Amino acid sequence: MHGKTYQQNKHTELAALADAVVSYAEERVRIEPPLDRPMSEAELEERVGSTISADGFGGVATMRLFAEELAPACLSTDHPRYLSFIPCAPSDAAVMFDLVVGASSIYGGSWLEGAGAVYAENQALRWIADLVGMPQGAGGVFTPGGTIGNLSALVAARHTARRRARSGLRPNRVAATAGAHSSIQSACDVMDAELVGVQVDDQWRLTGPNLRAVLEKHGPESFFAVVATCGTTNFGIIDDLASVAEVCREFGIWFHVDGAYGGAGLAAPSVRDLYTGVEHCDSFIVDPHKWLFAPFDCCALLYREPALARAAHTQKAGYLDVLTEAPDWNPTDYSVGLTRRARGLPFWFSLAVNGTDAYRAAIEHTLDVARLAEAEIAQRPYLELVHGRHLSVVVFRRVGWSAGDYQAWSDRMLAEEFAFVVPTTHDGETLARFAIVNPETGEDDIIAILDTMAPAADRPLDGVGGAGVTSGYGPPWAPSADTRTGRVSE
Ligand SMILES: Cc1ncc(COP(=O)(O)O)c(C=O)c1O
Repeated sequence: MHGKTYQQNKHTELAALADAVVSYAEERVRIEPPLDRPMSEAELEERVGSTISADGFGGVATMRLFAEELAPACLSTDHPRYLSFIPCAPSDAAVMFDLVVGASSIYGGSWLEGAGAVYAENQALRWIADLVGMPQGAGGVFTPGGTIGNLSALVAARHTARRRARSGLRPNRVAATAGAHSSIQSACDVMDAELVGVQVDDQWRLTGPNLRAVLEKHGPESFFAVVATCGTTNFGIIDDLASVAEVCREFGIWFHVDGAYGGAGLAAPSVRDLYTGVEHCDSFIVDPHKWLFAPFDCCALLYREPALARAAHTQKAGYLDVLTEAPDWNPTDYSVGLTRRARGLPFWFSLAVNGTDAYRAAIEHTLDVARLAEAEIAQRPYLELVHGRHLSVVVFRRVGWSAGDYQAWSDRMLAEEFAFVVPTTHDGETLARFAIVNPETGEDDIIAILDTMAPAADRPLDGVGGAGVTSGYGPPWAPSADTRTGRVSE
């Protein structure tokens, strides 16, 4: 039972709690996860009720509550048929080590307090810097996600540009295409900067010539950064990094590359050529929680000249002088925010455990599955690929479907816990989209999902009319194809 004081409660039920937590975690990693489903607040109120009480419920009971009632109301982003947005499919090693990071009370902001963690994180950052082709002096920090990574890079870019600008000039513009991630607009809003759009070429890429036209029109001295993307979120497109880098160099403008999703492809020889020019970037991000098999939330942010970022980001306060006046590498000096969890450690651990060859193989495998999806779509008359396949994102059209049909199809697949594939839109048209970053996603998963889009006449055993989908186009629900095991039982 619980005592009434902190000391009495300190290790109450520790053995049982550890058993409940660690065995849950181990089993969750071991099983093929259930997809699960969202629940309404009313449903959760009914099933769970209030969880905060004066006496507490105790560790094992609360763990059971989570396992039995709360976890099933959270989608498993590592389910092989979770292909929406950008999934997150961490390796066993990364997940298990996340428990260790949580248990270790490491402050990851300073070398003084977290030297061992920072040393390890920096080695993981170095691996990425080498993939990009950044110089030995490059360095950075793991931030909570690409949004904060992009914001931090742009803050460093503007600080640098303003320090270098002729007197009276305060560069306040960023150039990017409409394909750039929404976090770039968000960063500009936070910074009260102006995002200026650049027209894409016929392959939907940012290019040097189009960039030059925009810079010359608005005055290059008014820009503090150009953002290129290697792997746009909606289509996986890689900008023409080499020609963009050249224009940035000519005008002396900071060249930031957002590889939050697609940066992982740098490790895959089959697509590495597409990234030519990335090595010229002034800053770069990639999210290990997307396609590098780390758990949420983790973005690797790298700078060519970290001192420029340090000048922009270091917080000054008397109580911090002991840190900021030391010559040490303090991760917190390279992004917005002060206190930080050593969030790069699960990623580092997984890299150290598995080796970089395993990373290359896993990324290549997901690319192969994306190629299979592309080929399957091409051979089905009722499907059309939209703008080719780029990296591991595949966008396609179901001939004859309205926006409502896509939504009904998606809703029904989720309600059946069969797959999670939400529609996307482009130029006002609703489309289907797969983002494949999970090595557990197999060809069978892709085929099973595509089969649900077949016209009724093409389906062998279709007795189900679909979820309000236009007559004749309902998915052939095949629960027998779903061999997912159940949630962890206690
Ligand atoms: C290209 C790109 N940049 C930035 C982001 C934002 O990253 P986060 O969601 O980790 O903040 C995303 C997210 O999908 C992305 O795809």
